[in-house]
Amino acid sequence: MDTFNMPESAQDGLTWERIVSATKPVAVIHSLSGDAQVAEQAKAWVNWAARRFPGSSALQTLSRANFHEALQIWSDQFAKAEGPEPEADRSLPVRRDFLPSSGFFRAHHQLLCTEDSVRRRFEKIRAVFSPAAKILIVGDDDQLSPLLVSQGFTNVTVIDIDERLIRGLAQVQGLRARVHDLTQDPQPELIDDYELIVMDPPYSAEGIQMFWQGAWRLVRANARPRFHLYCASVCLTRDGVRQAAQQIQDRGYRLSEFVPGLCRYPYSPLTHAGFRAFFAAAAVAFGRPRFLTGPTLIPKAVSSDLWVLEG
Ligand SMILES: C[S@@+](CC[C@H](N)C(=O)[O-])C[C@H]1O[C@@H](n2cnc3c(N)ncnc32)[C@H](O)[C@@H]1O
Repeated sequence: MDTFNMPESAQDGLTWERIVSATKPVAVIHSLSGDAQVAEQAKAWVNWAARRFPGSSALQTLSRANFHEALQIWSDQFAKAEGPEPEADRSLPVRRDFLPSSGFFRAHHQLLCTEDSVRRRFEKIRAVFSPAAKILIVGDDDQLSPLLVSQGFTNVTVIDIDERLIRGLAQVQGLRARVHDLTQDPQPELIDDYELIVMDPPYSAEGIQMFWQGAWRLVRANARPRFHLYCASVCLTRDGVRQAAQQIQDRGYRLSEFVPGLCRYPYSPLTHAGFRAFFAAAAVAFGRPRFLTGPTLIPKAVSSDLWVLEG
């Protein structure tokens, strides 16, 4: 995995070109480019689907991207999500007992990462923070918070808009779990001088903005937490990356580390079947039946990169 460290400002480091250069393009997907008419039709279909399935970040993202960006997103996700997963310390116990249901219609943009992804998130925290560190997890359908507590972290707070999830997490002894919507003002008791904030927002410019601004409302004045933000970066498109970089810089923060493809989020079999059916219908409609007989171009998983932000 190519990790790059960026000592410069966020504006210099967090760019579309830099992110794209960390991905491995897939030739077969690039061979699709250059057919303007098919591209136009495909775009119309994706826009239609995005309006009907607003819970799918993947469709929203593709509907916003131009054709070149869409190919780039596709090849990025294909390259990162199809190969073997990076290693993780398998002795770390990951709980999966408070899961919200996951099907085709996802609530609150929830899509679970693998257990090994949760372990890798923990390893990135353990490498830097002591068990006494004050940690806030902003949105935790992946259940990183119980793993932190089980490994001796004593100061962990988790907030989420999903009451079902928080009801489950509240049963974990030693974990402070509260229902909170990031678009609203927080209860004063939640505002603290956190040292680390972990978040996995919806993979769009709006999603990042909502989580970034919402998280800052939970931070006591003068505190300068480190952020571990997970994002399928290329999905933001060029404009979204620019907007995110600007917001980060406006807070006096910079991207200090970028780890491509650290986490993986498998689609449910139902969702995967839905995407395949959509793709098959499009292949027939566009007179490209060879796409049906070749290897499927629908990734089985989404993958996200880690952005470490420091101020
Ligand atoms: C946004 S999801 C992860 C995104 C996902 N990996 C994707 O494919 O886009 C992470 C968590 O954030 C929570 N969440 C979503 N919107 C929220 C909000 N407005 N306030 C607080 N938590 C929210 C969800 O319930 C979920 O548990």
